[in-house]
Amino acid sequence: MKIHKPLCEAVFNYEKAKVYPLHTPGHKGGRGMDHSLLAALGKRAAAIDVSLMSELDDIHCPEGCLKEAQELAAQVYGSDSCFFAVNGTTGAIHAMLIGALKPGEKVLIPRNAHRAVAGALVLGGLAAVFLPPEYDEAFGINTQITPEAVEKALAADPYIKAVLVTSPNYYGLAADLKAIGEIAHSRGALLLVDEAHGAHLGFSAALPPSALQCGADACAQSTHKTLGALTQCSMLHVKGQRIDQKQIAAAMSLLTTTSPNYLLMASLDAARSQLAARGAAMAEAALAVAEKLRQSLRDIEGLKVLDSGILERSEVAGFDGTKVTVNVANIGITGIEAGEILRENGLAVELVDRNNVLFLLTYADDNEEIESIINKIKEIFHIIKKQNKPVLALSNNCQMPVAQQILSARQAFYADTEAIAFREAAGRICSEQISFYPPGIPVIIPGELLTEEIISYCQSMLALGLPVSGSQDGSLTKIQVVKQ
Ligand SMILES: Cc1ncc(COP(=O)(O)O)c(C=O)c1O
Repeated sequence: MKIHKPLCEAVFNYEKAKVYPLHTPGHKGGRGMDHSLLAALGKRAAAIDVSLMSELDDIHCPEGCLKEAQELAAQVYGSDSCFFAVNGTTGAIHAMLIGALKPGEKVLIPRNAHRAVAGALVLGGLAAVFLPPEYDEAFGINTQITPEAVEKALAADPYIKAVLVTSPNYYGLAADLKAIGEIAHSRGALLLVDEAHGAHLGFSAALPPSALQCGADACAQSTHKTLGALTQCSMLHVKGQRIDQKQIAAAMSLLTTTSPNYLLMASLDAARSQLAARGAAMAEAALAVAEKLRQSLRDIEGLKVLDSGILERSEVAGFDGTKVTVNVANIGITGIEAGEILRENGLAVELVDRNNVLFLLTYADDNEEIESIINKIKEIFHIIKKQNKPVLALSNNCQMPVAQQILSARQAFYADTEAIAFREAAGRICSEQISFYPPGIPVIIPGELLTEEIISYCQSMLALGLPVSGSQDGSLTKIQVVKQ
């Protein structure tokens, strides 16, 4: 069956028309492009790097092929409206929060939310009420927030206007969104979901239900993370009458370039068409290869593999089996070291932390190479295991010290600031955020108090070799703080 791809078709038709470009971009259909870049991209990709043609619609007021492509995506996901986002889920989260809330309004946020959420607090002047996520000691990872904790927080503060949940989290653990949504709605608050890791959910009963299926008012998804869109391409979905859909559209427009890259935009249309054609088969293929890898790793004594057993924890309502998390502490190496060894052997993983390595599998891994890749991973772990290194004590590096909020993120971001020695910054209010990437979860955000505990936590993460993101000084020698 031929699936209609309005945006792809419009872009390819424009290419076929062979119009001479007396317009941007400056490389003019590849004619002036650096040769090595042109060779890497290919002439066709360079020729369709176009924007702003009337045939290609207008992202700020879509009425043609883009409108149709977004409507088709909304249909596939079951939303009322879908917005294509070319600044990743970061941009979609910014628009979701800024469009749903007014400056000064309160939003309940799990403290392990992605740094994009902290960005939205600054941009939108929102007030955060943080909720600590639950923690699993066996893997040393954050799990989820509970409906009970949400209920308690909303009961304690009737001014909270929205609950933001990150679900599934990086490790594929989903929150009980249905229960959280019912609680939020019964108290007049919105349910907004950072579903960056869940663009593939909702297409198979073997995966956790999607945020929209659970009653979310809006969700932001990284189509590029687990589906076929090009990197930085995401979708923002909205559903229902509780949320002001016009205001979300206005926020998306406010935050989006006037020159969106149509290769990127068309890739969202293409990814949606794949889902429409065979979404269930794609989900099942990803789950099957991930299970194969999980099974192979279970065979190696000492490795602890995260699986659906985690559902015994009451706060974990669903497990996305396409994420394979392996705790390597018992074979005597850190997750970071395991990641390095795998990389030296030509394998790059999605995430490492002190205890774990995370392999991300998708429908695209259902290929001829995967069998030998799984064998190679198994062999590498066998070799490490045979070295009989002493077992490492599990580290609780995902259990971050709780920072105290003194100023709003926006107040601190715009305050007069100074750079001081990080080691001596205890007692000062931070004006920037510090995250380690991945997973990009801020240890501290603007407006929070630096403490000895936070400083030594960050230093221990640096010592592990995890890269800093967010702070102006990647070595964390200096930190920007609010002037006293
Ligand atoms: C939970 C979470 N939310 C949001 C994002 C941001 O997504 P993007 O990279 O598409 O901007 C990420 C990225 O890793 C993430 O892990």
